[in-house]
Amino acid sequence: MRLTVIGTGYLGATHAACMAELGHEVLGVDVDPDKVAALSAGRVPFHEPGLPELIAKHTASGRLRFTTSYAEAGAFGDVHFVCVGTPQSADSGAADLAHVDAAFAALAAHAVPGALVVGKSTVPVGTAGRLARTHDVEIAWNPEFLREGFAVEDTLRPDRLVFGVATDRAETLLRAVYAPVLAAGTPLVTADFPTAELVKTAANAFLATKISFINAMAEVCEAAGGDVRTLAEALGHDDRIGPKFLRAGIGFGGGCLPKDIRAFAHRAEELGVSLAFLREVDAINMRRRDRVVELARELCGHDVLGARVAVLGAAFKPGSDDIRDSPALGVAARLRLEGADVTVYDPEAMDNARKAFPLLGYALTAEDALRGADLVLHLTEWPQFREIDPVRAARLAARPRIVDGRGTLDADRWAAAGWRFRAPGRPAPADEEQ
Ligand code: UDX
Repeated sequence: MRLTVIGTGYLGATHAACMAELGHEVLGVDVDPDKVAALSAGRVPFHEPGLPELIAKHTASGRLRFTTSYAEAGAFGDVHFVCVGTPQSADSGAADLAHVDAAFAALAAHAVPGALVVGKSTVPVGTAGRLARTHDVEIAWNPEFLREGFAVEDTLRPDRLVFGVATDRAETLLRAVYAPVLAAGTPLVTADFPTAELVKTAANAFLATKISFINAMAEVCEAAGGDVRTLAEALGHDDRIGPKFLRAGIGFGGGCLPKDIRAFAHRAEELGVSLAFLREVDAINMRRRDRVVELARELCGHDVLGARVAVLGAAFKPGSDDIRDSPALGVAARLRLEGADVTVYDPEAMDNARKAFPLLGYALTAEDALRGADLVLHLTEWPQFREIDPVRAARLAARPRIVDGRGTLDADRWAAAGWRFRAPGRPAPADEEQ
């Protein structure tokens, strides 16, 4: 089939490459000529494992092209996927739909009769219905559930497909697009527009709630002297709860969960439904960053003024160079404001971090960051940070003090190497309790 993908950011570039991999002819469309030029040359402007290879393979085979022209897109495809961003509005927390509205208007103006325009962007419930009423073109909604770092895998082998459709014809077209994925046994849920839109926002709200739940338990553990890691392990053995998304730490960040729960709460309130618990999920999440700052202060005496702090991690999670709403950089910036001399190291996100936080210090390696540090903060759980030898690290640091903000380091090993080791939700070693 001939498909277009509108918007070639993280979602669109992945979707376009994966649709080519499924055997379609794909035209990616973006208003930014620099992005189009980079992708056309096989360059991906962000870190996503497997994606550069796929883009290079299919731009070379001629199955994947990029353009800035909606007129070209309209003439090219039978099915158009809208993958543009829905950022958070500056004032209310609501989703900003300017890019979605512009993409649908442009496609409605240029699409050939009979074309199907499929929304993939995360939107407030009611958007697909509004667009269908506004534009004289057939619409469907097909939410995505990509995780950064696993975007290619999640597109080619998703947990489920959701088709929000108003006609049998739209469903038939989408079934044809995803034929190889469906043939592999992927569950398909067909739904009306509002339900399809809600699947995405509800899924993200649930995941955020699960993380904030375990982080709230970390707060209780801190007050009661319990250990949240052991608690999470025991809870996770219950099949009904499951072990995933129960990692307590400095909370969630990134381009999706924080903005999506705010937009969802806002939209529900517009509809007269209170999702006040999502505000609390957000508040718990932000409090975890405060807690790491508190632990840093505690370990440094009572403030961090003049302390040399090594921050391991800048990306919002490992496997990504994305620093949007990164808890690690949020904490680093706070400590700098409190007078610490902060040096950050991240395996992938250094360029992005430098641009966004030019006043923080940056080291070229983890060792360089550790050298002379009065305090180490482990804030993004890259696997290579687990490989750091605490004995060697103790020789590099000026003072062996560490906060494990992600709860993935081996506390006993670090303590045995002489480190004062603290982690949110876990008790301080007995000899350190005040
Ligand atoms: C998320 C959803 O998982 C995905 O389905 C959706 O399409 C987009 O948003 P992503 O933002 O890539 O994906 O990251 P995810 O892996 O979900 O992690 C989100 C944040 O939660 C990260 O900051 C991560 O470090 C944090 N997290 C995750 C925890 O703090 N604890 C956990 O147990 C799991």
